[in-house]
Amino acid sequence: MPVPPSAAVRRKLEKAARAAAAASYSPYSKFRVGAALVAGSGRIYAGCNVENASYGLCNCAERTAIFTAAAAGEREVAAIAVYTPTPAPTMPCGACRQVINEFGPGALVISVCDSAERIETTLDALLPAAFGPRDLNVPQPPAPRRRR
Ligand code: THU
Repeated sequence: MPVPPSAAVRRKLEKAARAAAAASYSPYSKFRVGAALVAGSGRIYAGCNVENASYGLCNCAERTAIFTAAAAGEREVAAIAVYTPTPAPTMPCGACRQVINEFGPGALVISVCDSAERIETTLDALLPAAFGPRDLNVPQPPAPRRRR
């Protein structure tokens, strides 16, 4: 199991996820989501949901953040925070759980909202017995390490 990020990094992630929701493009659902992750390098990457008139092409905030990190060369997700401006926290959808698994099978998953309610869990708890790179004989990227 990876060492969980420090309380300071977790606070930064939550702040970045809240800020990212401001850019949400969600004219159809009107459901704004922000996400932020800390990668293996220690850098933080954020994203929001981006919807499309062809509804099935909507992209969740978590996947925007992960694809942004991967496009910057990152291959490890240590933790990911999700923010929704709702009274209760929102958990990553099934598709996003699978995408988080690719780079962060043991990642910490934090969901925060507009109340004090929050959820902190791990990806392997949310997606047990996941299908992943090893099923295709590709080594899973190494477990994330704490950088700060
Ligand atoms: N959505 C996310 O961005 N992340 C989640 O964890 C759940 C759902 C988005 C997708 C869509 O733009 C809107 O929320 C409603 O489903």
